Amino acid sequence: MHVAPYTHRTQDSTAETDDDIVLQYDHVSLIFGRHTIIRDISLELRRGESLAIIGESGCGKTCMLKLAIGLFQPTRGRVLFHGQDLSKVKGAEIAKLRTQYGFVFQQAALFDSLTVAENLRFPLEQHRMELSLDEMNRIASNRLIEVGLNPDNVMKKHPAELSGGMRKRVGLARALALEPELMLYDEPTTGLDPVMSSVINELILRTRLRRPVTSLVVTHDMTTVKKAATRVVMLCPFAELTEGQSQVMFDGTPDALQASETPRIRHFVRGEAEGRIDEIEATFDSFGGVQNVPFVGMKKHTLTKFR
Ligand SMILES: Nc1ncnc2c1ncn2[C@@H]1O[C@H](COP(=O)(O)OP(=O)(O)O)[C@@H](O)[C@H]1O
Ligand SMILES: [Mg+2]
Repeated sequence: MHVAPYTHRTQDSTAETDDDIVLQYDHVSLIFGRHTIIRDISLELRRGESLAIIGESGCGKTCMLKLAIGLFQPTRGRVLFHGQDLSKVKGAEIAKLRTQYGFVFQQAALFDSLTVAENLRFPLEQHRMELSLDEMNRIASNRLIEVGLNPDNVMKKHPAELSGGMRKRVGLARALALEPELMLYDEPTTGLDPVMSSVINELILRTRLRRPVTSLVVTHDMTTVKKAATRVVMLCPFAELTEGQSQVMFDGTPDALQASETPRIRHFVRGEAEGRIDEIEATFDSFGGVQNVPFVGMKKHTLTKFR
């Protein structure tokens, strides 16, 4: 099915005013105790952009999302939503501001004791109190249709009665309930089979083509990057930074990422384990091997057989 791209109704779509910056990380550092997670990251997310943040597990991707919704406060620097410093927004105001975000959690994070309809109505009941029950049900139905689920089949079901992929889609429908301006996705395809992963990638793409939405997708799935992102940022785990190196290893288009010849980026993008196997071997060697472990002593060609 062809989906016509959404076009912004600005007078001059090429004009980049400050108004175009939806989310801004301004020299942000995040430190927990003695552990630095993020050091001095500056990033701007512009209206209509679909930014994927990639990087290996533990590099701080989920922390970047939590900073974006003010759930974490930066140790240094500022996170701004439409120029508003999130650390200065308090109480009722932050709740109101969060209605402009749609968050798709790593686990679908539905309320298990509520039906699908009740899950979808939840944000509406919190923030759109003027709506009648019928109106809320109509919105819930429309959002389910949008993610390819038949409302007649799923509205009365509980999350436990749905497959993992269906729960993910209900999570996406709920995130869309309030027509948010900024969609945040945390590992949207993790734990799903390849077919369901493609469905979710397609839905992320359609969401962005249908609506005036800006997206921030955290993922380690390169298919998601290729399918759904207009721009990609790759982060390096802080612990692996060398002196003077930026934590942002790459910032550009998915095509440019694909073409990168930087070994670490190439390994990530092409899913090559070679570099990592070298690291494992170097660690083994530096400790002089490990006693009574069957894999010790096996060289790369032997390990490769097990992949
Ligand atoms: N609330 C927290 N307190 C302490 N450390 C945390 C907290 N949340 C995350 N971390 C640490 O921050 C690092 C980055 O975590 P995260 O953003 O979840 O990584 P990613 O999503 O890239 O896998 C990890 O080492 C994690 O243990
Ligand atoms: Mg994470």
